[in-house]
Amino acid sequence: MNVTLDIRRFDPETDSESHRQKYEIEVQPTDRVLDALMHISLHVDGTLGFRKSCAHGVCGSDAMRISGKERLACKTLIMDVAEKDGDIITLDPLRHMEVQKDLMVDQGVFLEKFRAVEPFLKPKEKPPVSGEFLQSAEDRALIDEATKCINCGACYSACPILDDNPDFLGPAALVAAARFVFDSRDEGLPARLEIVDQQNAVWSCDNHFECTKVCPREIKITKLINLTKKTIKKYKEGGSFA
Ligand code: SF4
Ligand code: FES
Repeated sequence: MNVTLDIRRFDPETDSESHRQKYEIEVQPTDRVLDALMHISLHVDGTLGFRKSCAHGVCGSDAMRISGKERLACKTLIMDVAEKDGDIITLDPLRHMEVQKDLMVDQGVFLEKFRAVEPFLKPKEKPPVSGEFLQSAEDRALIDEATKCINCGACYSACPILDDNPDFLGPAALVAAARFVFDSRDEGLPARLEIVDQQNAVWSCDNHFECTKVCPREIKITKLINLTKKTIKKYKEGGSFA
């Protein structure tokens, strides 16, 4: 089948504003959008800018808006977004991040916010002399979802709160916080209370669920944020964290 990729293009070295460019190409319905981009880059227009690395949904580098929704190009089949010959697939860079070139965005601020939640283990006990910190299967299950994040930024782009409040930490950073708040081996909430218990952190989330809808790892992001809110309230009321 033939489809048209309608791509937002912007080159900061030559353009004062973005414009759209269309590429008509032959594809199989089972090709991935990333395959179509690679075809354009290798055979049609080598100036097209986009990121990709693993090509298997693991690295998160090819998140973009495909036909209006945040998705990974390597996990989206042509037949997911086009039904018939002549259909148009729109490609746009992620929102809420500065465009570096075409479909590539600067993840600097996004990653700064991720680092702000201190996403590393702060052990509540001294490390064992030999071996590892052990954890029960039930305790591991509490953080299972949050460990699946690949930092793709899809949730950050889809979040409507960031439209009006660019200082909001955003869904991905709050997932990273939950990853450690609910880790039985970590000091947990007390170690991160000052960071997550802020208006620009969990309390900005209004339960729009847009982040949850687009997460390629199917992380229940909004639910994790709400769980963190409840845990903060419980901690402040009872003065304890368990
Ligand atoms: S929570 Fe999901 S959408 Fe957000 S950065 Fe992680 S993997 Fe991507
Ligand atoms: S290229 Fe790695 S997730 Fe798509």
